[in-house]
Amino acid sequence: MNTKLTQSPTLAARYIAHGEVVAFPTETVYGLGANLFNESAIRKIFEAKGRPTDNPLIAHIAELDQLRSIAREVPPIAQTLVDAFFPGPLTLVLPKHEQIPLIATAGLNTIGVRMPQHPIARQFLTACGMPLVAPSANLSGRPSPTTWQAVREDLNGRIACILKGDPAKVGLESTVVDCTGKAPVILRAGGVTLEQLREVLPETEIANPGHAEAPKSPGMKYRHYSPDARVVISIFPQFTAPVGDSAYIGIDPPPRLDGFKKFLLCREVAEYAHALFQFFRECDEEGIQTIFCQAVQEKGLGLALMDRIRRAAHE
Ligand code: TXA
Ligand code: MG
Repeated sequence: MNTKLTQSPTLAARYIAHGEVVAFPTETVYGLGANLFNESAIRKIFEAKGRPTDNPLIAHIAELDQLRSIAREVPPIAQTLVDAFFPGPLTLVLPKHEQIPLIATAGLNTIGVRMPQHPIARQFLTACGMPLVAPSANLSGRPSPTTWQAVREDLNGRIACILKGDPAKVGLESTVVDCTGKAPVILRAGGVTLEQLREVLPETEIANPGHAEAPKSPGMKYRHYSPDARVVISIFPQFTAPVGDSAYIGIDPPPRLDGFKKFLLCREVAEYAHALFQFFRECDEEGIQTIFCQAVQEKGLGLALMDRIRRAAHE
């Protein structure tokens, strides 16, 4: 398949109308979209990514009234979060409308819904005139793509079209929040922080993966966000030293910085989060064997950042 590169949301939307899949920019990471109501188009997403079919997809909307065709109901806690954070890097898990094909939700009776903020994503969704399901636009198991070039690296020849945009602003995926219980439960940390959620709903909790009753985000059980290189968490940069062809990313410099084949020092956590996945990809291209990632405090965006680093380190 010849993958069309374009900057035109209306041209990209034509591929969706023909039942094809299209990669598009969002503020979190690039997504791979298909018509939410077209089963064979959705199947192409799983095929192109090599994604296990028991991992549900997120529905993306441009307008709030599209929620009614996706969710059977919008509980009051969900409405509060919609009012506070839509559009933005937040996905709400809601009871699913019966007309949604089960392949989209991997057989679950709930569905994740998100309204992206990115202007090109919004123009594209509006041009499509329907909600799209979209996972991150990477091959399954690879770091999520934060640039259109990274999408092309993984999916060239496997998808019909890439809608080009700027590099993703946040660089980590959306926060996934289960809104089907009494209190909101974070299933995946992401762009909207626990602190921000607790400002509007103080009862917000984080799912405990070890807790049998906690509703889980099925995708979290898979190997994720992984570069080919070994990832090592550096708790004490002052004691971190290069080994072989190694790289370092963090905020504080280790003493022998120029002994690393590649390094990136970030000013703060947001910049670190923004850079992480791209750094992983560049390290693989350059044949780096070990990537040291400085540990940061698990507050604010640091919670999502440490979650991704741990998964990459297989902890
Ligand atoms: O920022 C994002 O969320 C990006 C952009 C493209 O919007 N999308 C994204 O999708 O990261 P994906 O498919 O890579 O990750 C979706 C996560 C998975 O962990 C999945 O298991 C979880 O959300 N999820 C989706 N639907 C769910 C549901 N009904 N119940 C629980 N978890 C769900
Ligand atoms: Mg993903």
